[in-house]
This record gives sequence, C-alpha cells and structure tokens, in this order.
Amino acid sequence: MANPSILILAGDGIGPEVMAEVKKIIGWFGDKRGIGFDVEDDLVGGSAYDVHGTPLTDATMAKAQAADAVLLGAVGGPKYDVLDFSVKPERGLLRLRKEMDLFSNLRPAQCFDALADFSSLKKEVVAGLDIMIVRELTSGVYFGEPRGIFPDNEGGRVGVNTQRYTTEEIRRVARSAFELARRRGNKVCSMEKANVMESGILWREEVQWVHDNEYPDVELSHMYADAGAMQLVRWPKQFDVIVTDNLFGDLLSDCAAMLTGSLGMLPSASLGAPTATGRPKALYEPVHGSAPDIAGQGKANPIACILSFAMALRYSFDLGEEATRVERAVEAVLADGARTADLMGPEGGVPVSTAEMGDLIVKALDASL
Ligand code: IPM
Ligand code: MG
Repeated sequence: MANPSILILAGDGIGPEVMAEVKKIIGWFGDKRGIGFDVEDDLVGGSAYDVHGTPLTDATMAKAQAADAVLLGAVGGPKYDVLDFSVKPERGLLRLRKEMDLFSNLRPAQCFDALADFSSLKKEVVAGLDIMIVRELTSGVYFGEPRGIFPDNEGGRVGVNTQRYTTEEIRRVARSAFELARRRGNKVCSMEKANVMESGILWREEVQWVHDNEYPDVELSHMYADAGAMQLVRWPKQFDVIVTDNLFGDLLSDCAAMLTGSLGMLPSASLGAPTATGRPKALYEPVHGSAPDIAGQGKANPIACILSFAMALRYSFDLGEEATRVERAVEAVLADGARTADLMGPEGGVPVSTAEMGDLIVKALDASL
C-alpha cells in the first residue's frame, strides 16, 4: 500500500523554520517506526504571492484537496500589509479552510507541568489544565454575505460583514464537540451571544437539539461568550470542551492559549467530513502566527508545529499511541529544562535554538523506543 500523503505548506515568517523541525520528526517515524509518509512541499501566503501573485494557486489548492493531510506553518508579514485584501496572505489560509470545508477547528489548551510558572495567571489556576476549544471555521462573520465597504447616502462609507449560521452548520460542529467530549471529560460548554444576536439564539437552540437528540449522556452548558472569556481566565479548569462560532472561537482560543504560558506551544487541527478513504479532510497548523520579528533567527519555538503533526497522527492516521509518544517526548524535553527563547522566564538562562529543540525532541523519541 502507498504511504499516506502529507502536503507541507510552510508559509511565511517562522513557518519554514518550525516546519524544518517537523520534517525531522516525520523522518524519524519513517526510519525508526516504519511509518512512512509521502511528503510534498508547496507555497502558501506571502511566499506564494511573491512567486505567483496569489496567496494560493489553484494547483496548490488541488494538491491540498488530494492530500491525506495538510501541514501549514504560518502566513503573513508586514511586507504584505499594503496588498489588496483579495491577495493578502491570510486569504490563502481562508481559502483552504473554506474549499476543504474544514468546519471543525480543534484548539487544545494544555498546560505542561514544566511551564506552569510561565502563565500570567497563578500556577494553581493553570497547572494540569487540559481544555479543548472547538471553533466553527467555515462560516459565520468570516464568510457571511453581504460583506464589503460601500458608499452610504451621506457621502461617507459603510463597512458590512454578516454573521450567518444555518441549522446544519451549527449541528455538525456541535456533533464534533460532543464526540470529542465523550473521549475526554464528557462536558461541553457552548458559547454565543444569544442575549444580543439572533444567530446566537439559533446557535444555542441547535446545540441543545443535538445534545437532547443525539448526545444526552454528555453534560451540556451554555454561556454568553463574554462571560466565557471571563471564566476562562478566572477558573479555566471548569471547562472540558468549549464549542463556539468562528469569530468568538478566534478570540477565545487566543485567550486560552495564553493560559498555557506561550503561544509557541499550541497546535490545532482543522477537520472536515470523512472522505472516501475514511480519513477526514484535514489541515494542521500551530496557533501562533508568522512572528516576522524573530523570523530567520533560529529563535522560534517549533513545539506547536510538532504537536500539530502529533494531532495529524491522531486524527488523520489513527495513530493515537504514536501521537502520545510525540507529546511525551515534548514533555520530557521541557522537564529536562530545555527552553526556546519564548519560554525564558524573568530569571533568564540560555535558550536553545529552533533546530536544537527539534534535535532534542528527536532524541527523546529515540529514548522512548
Ligand atoms: C487564526 C488566525 C486567522 C483567523 C487569521 C490568520 C486569518 O487568527 O487562525 O486564529 O483569524 O482565523
Ligand atoms: Mg486567531
């Protein structure tokens, strides 16, 4: 049987650097575990724009559709801020999400013991934290029509975006949250603004419907998203799985990310419906961005991207134990005290480089055999 295929879109800024470390891990699985992948590289974001004048070519889009999994680094950078909205690097990422129909975005926020001191919150609030934010990713205000900047009647302009959700869009992401909860703490908290938005009322009703009809065994609660943000920093361990819409999920997941001390630690998976292979359409990416200020200096933390590959092992390739092996290797390296620059506390120390961190994780994988 052919190896499963992975399309790597390293993108901009620190994307290529952190992805180079992921490639070491992928290579390790081929060499040491007999688990091979056919890897192909292509361009996305500003780096695609520089070559092709578009942040994602149709040919790359087709490759992403055909791949068993896509790994993405990061997109964007100040150099591209002046570009027209339609060709900004972010449009490449949004096109991938939309055309692959990756409606369920899994953003775990896990606090590694060795890093509990790094959070801006008290250690007891974050130690042992393990929550999962499920963000709807292909609809809502990111994609709703009408949208645009139009002239108004008084000689000024009006900017319009539309928050829009259908029954089925809400139900399918709710199902993915309930499925995950069953394999974790069996609790889902749904967040919206049903107090001010009709789309929020529908969201609440449909999530409740899916619960009552299909997942009555899972504990469900509802929260307004603003209160949810407050609870996330007050006592995050009250949550297991949080399900929310595209825009609230964008905000709440950044907020949850900081609970863990560093954005450089957090992976994500964006999943669609299962394909004929039984695998879901899937794209994996670190939650951090392209960090142009540190790009090319060997300072970036590759862990979020490596943990994103671990999520690919779990959710695309049914290799949950191998995913755990990668996660344990990361834990072991952190427990040994290795830190990239983003994880340097006030007391300082000597950071390891991006490549050194990758090598240490490979060593820890060796030690796991
Ligand atoms: C994210 C990012 C993206 C988003 C940007 C880069 C388009 O903030 O993945 O959270 O807003 O969805
Ligand atoms: Mg974001």
